[in-house]
Amino acid sequence: MSRFLIFIIWMALTIPCSSQQSYSPDYMLPTLFNDDGDDFVVIAHRGASAYFPENTMAAFKGALEMNAEMIELDVMLSKDGVPVVFHDAVLEDHTNGSGELSDYTLDELKQLDAGSWFSKEFAGEKIPTLEQVLAFARGKIALNIEIKTEAVSDEVKGGVEEKSLALVKEYGMQDHVLFSSFDYRAITHLKQLDPSIPAALLYNNRSSNKLLPSQLVSQYKADAFNCSYQQLNRKRLRDIRLNSIPVFVYTVNQKRRMKKLVQLGVSGIFSDKPDLLRQVAEKVREK
Ligand code: G3P
Ligand code: MG
Repeated sequence: MSRFLIFIIWMALTIPCSSQQSYSPDYMLPTLFNDDGDDFVVIAHRGASAYFPENTMAAFKGALEMNAEMIELDVMLSKDGVPVVFHDAVLEDHTNGSGELSDYTLDELKQLDAGSWFSKEFAGEKIPTLEQVLAFARGKIALNIEIKTEAVSDEVKGGVEEKSLALVKEYGMQDHVLFSSFDYRAITHLKQLDPSIPAALLYNNRSSNKLLPSQLVSQYKADAFNCSYQQLNRKRLRDIRLNSIPVFVYTVNQKRRMKKLVQLGVSGIFSDKPDLLRQVAEKVREK
């Protein structure tokens, strides 16, 4: 029996399946443009990345067409300090370039092909800037902006957080974004810059000193606890429920896993297949 199956059976036996929980007003979550009203958020991980090259405009447009309620994207800084949307520190796996992304200016990054690695059909897809994605999403779909650790420094002034936040505000999206980061400094910086901006801790074992979600969220003034499905163990889930903390779980592409997590009442799931996730969530809701 797989470890996941054992985990699910164990959780089913030990935790009441009360599904929806109400959150304390202290937690600020983004307003969705296309909320289907079920208190569960369908999040397209790096866009609809099972069907399109991840973190490209094609993947984001696909996610919107599939009726995702939020798009997750990863933000790095180009050599000349522009927030760009890309997951890896290096270019080789998801573009025709090589070496570290941060060694290239925006103009140089824009020469790269970010689609052919996925399929010839997407040849010519570019690495988008955060600004491009905000212009696309404005008025249409909420964003989870994950600040990659590689982009974070000790500086608040002029850092990736300040630049990204300024762009979000320029596009009037401050009520429709959830920032997140594995680097807890980013959460501290964002809350220093604007305590009202929604920001989630992305659980990072090394930075967490064995603290519970409620302790971490309170320490960093975060609005949600994001973790992988493997990290959502009984102890953490119990603490999350007791303290009514919003919890978003990544990256879930299997139907069975999606169903169980929706039944457990998690706040949202990141999936490369937002179409499948929406179907599963709707089915659970019908019952
Ligand atoms: O934010 C959820 C998830 O995207 C975190 O992991 O590596 O896919 O960015 P990663
Ligand atoms: Mg991410």
